[in-house]
Amino acid sequence: MSADTPEDLAGLRAAGRVVAQTIRELRRLARPGITTAELDAHAARVFAAHGARSGPQLDYDFPGTICISVGDEAVHGIPGRRRLRDGDLVKLDVTAELDGFYADACRTVAVGKAKPSALKLIGAAESGLKRGMAAATAGATVNDIGIAVQGEVERRGFSVCHALSGHGIGRSIHEEPTVFNVDVPGPSPALTEGLVITIEPIIAAGDGEVVEDGEWILRTGDGSLSAHAEHTIVITDGAPLVLTA
Ligand code: MF3
Ligand code: CO
Ligand code: CO
Repeated sequence: MSADTPEDLAGLRAAGRVVAQTIRELRRLARPGITTAELDAHAARVFAAHGARSGPQLDYDFPGTICISVGDEAVHGIPGRRRLRDGDLVKLDVTAELDGFYADACRTVAVGKAKPSALKLIGAAESGLKRGMAAATAGATVNDIGIAVQGEVERRGFSVCHALSGHGIGRSIHEEPTVFNVDVPGPSPALTEGLVITIEPIIAAGDGEVVEDGEWILRTGDGSLSAHAEHTIVITDGAPLVLTA
């Protein structure tokens, strides 16, 4: 959507705050021994306390409040009996709906004491997101974001999972435009003031190919670790407004 009124902006900001608070609390709880279902239940409590609802449940009948992907699971991991273990990488991908507005963000957390290589992978996803956001200004194109993200991730020696992308958002989870994390030559939509999008590098230590595992989960084809960082932003004539910070 395009946030064209103060009411739009206020609604989006409120949804963004719920997402940010949920991730903040879950990061603290993501310790060895906790199950992903327990993390999901905590997210459900935070949502309920704010009158928010699960975006994935509303829009897609996803079998969880949030998506929790571990290790080589890239996206759409289903919360369940799995217990987090020392060294795991866990992706907390949180999408909330509040009063008809949606916001979406993800952080990758290293559980306990992770390997330096795993921490570098997380750093590359976060840095890719930062570079993507720096390129996201009115007058630039959606593809400028992909160029920035891909350049940063590959400079650090990792691969973008090119099949997975960011997206427009606001009145539902997935709206136009698709925000690729790689350079896609050819015409690309201009970024306009007020446009609400996510930027979300999903990257891997291996070649970046992903495969389906059941109805929901996408995991890396080569079994390598994956990391994911996401914010929902509003395009301005300067630096974007980050709704989920
Ligand atoms: N949070 C996901 C994203 O960033 C959307 C998950 S919706 C689901 O695009 F239903 F597929 F889980
Ligand atoms: Co998300
Ligand atoms: Co998203």
